[in-house]
Amino acid sequence: MSFIQIKDLHVHYPIRGGFFNTVVDHVYAVDGVSMEFEKGKTYGLVGESGSGKSTTGKAIIGLEKITSGQVIYEGEDVTNKRRTRNSAFTRDIQMIFQDSTSAMNPRKRVQDVLAEPIRNFMNLSPTEEKRHMIELLEIVGMSEEALLKYPHEFSGGQKQRLGIARAVACKPKMIIADEPVSALDLSVQAQVLNFMKDIQTEYGLSYLFISHDLGVVRHMCDHISIMYKGRFVEQGTKEDIYKHSKHVYTNRLLSAIPTIEPETRFERKMERRAVEQAYRENAQKYYDADGKVYPLQVISATHKVAMSAAEKEAQ
Ligand SMILES: Nc1ncnc2c1ncn2[C@@H]1O[C@H](COP(=O)(O)OP(=O)(O)OP(=O)(O)O)[C@@H](O)[C@H]1O
Ligand SMILES: [Mg+2]
Repeated sequence: MSFIQIKDLHVHYPIRGGFFNTVVDHVYAVDGVSMEFEKGKTYGLVGESGSGKSTTGKAIIGLEKITSGQVIYEGEDVTNKRRTRNSAFTRDIQMIFQDSTSAMNPRKRVQDVLAEPIRNFMNLSPTEEKRHMIELLEIVGMSEEALLKYPHEFSGGQKQRLGIARAVACKPKMIIADEPVSALDLSVQAQVLNFMKDIQTEYGLSYLFISHDLGVVRHMCDHISIMYKGRFVEQGTKEDIYKHSKHVYTNRLLSAIPTIEPETRFERKMERRAVEQAYRENAQKYYDADGKVYPLQVISATHKVAMSAAEKEAQ
């Protein structure tokens, strides 16, 4: 059973212009997406830059205003509810931000950055609080000395780890992780990803894992949604997406995953060219007259693909 449901989420940003600075149009950053999250599972949200991934994540936790649609948490409608200290939703759903630099107040020491969620949601004595913070730092491979430093004294990777420590501080039920490892070098990436998997087993956490990297997503996720221009082109289990992908846009992303085996490199290059050509020749078939992605159609119990009504008929 899912504990969070996202129903037909839309986030539209107004574009202002003209002499009176009136709203002349909208950016359809998120344009009708639905998702369900179960406990202990990892959901991937994949798409190219600007497809609306971060906006989706921020809208779910209430940091972007939802234009229409609903977010339901354990049966309660939390759409556009202000994030307050005493709401269960605010405590239980945390986010690791794509840009860890701007997500931390530069004037606060690490001990204050970490203490904030702890003070809001846990009733600890000062000694217990400090012990908990040291524990959190240990989990992400950092030492107690970090507590007295300021965010600018850390590297990008270290800041990202601090972001993770803060996100897990109050044992949330779900973490929205927006490109949590994209800024890290490969060896640290693996370390952070493994750590995220460990705490998942320990706490029964769910993740919404946002990434443009289908290779990393394969390693992490049970269920994947592929996003393009604010909509989903395909949704399914890891198997549905990596073995039976249907939408040309998914195929295009899959063929772009780099390979390290020299023997298949040439084949992959030819495959990539073929997919690219098929995409160029048939692009109009995959998008409607306004260039928007078609609604999702059900292919199997777990697999959905965007297609026109005519194509669905033909199947
Ligand atoms: N505050 C804003 N005002 C206006 N438009 C915005 C705003 N924030 C985002 N957008 C637009 O919404 C669209 C989706 O942005 P979003 O940040 O969600 O993309 P993304 O998929 O996270 O991309 P990336 O992979 O580069 O992080 C983009 O076209 C972006 O320009
Ligand atoms: Mg983003």
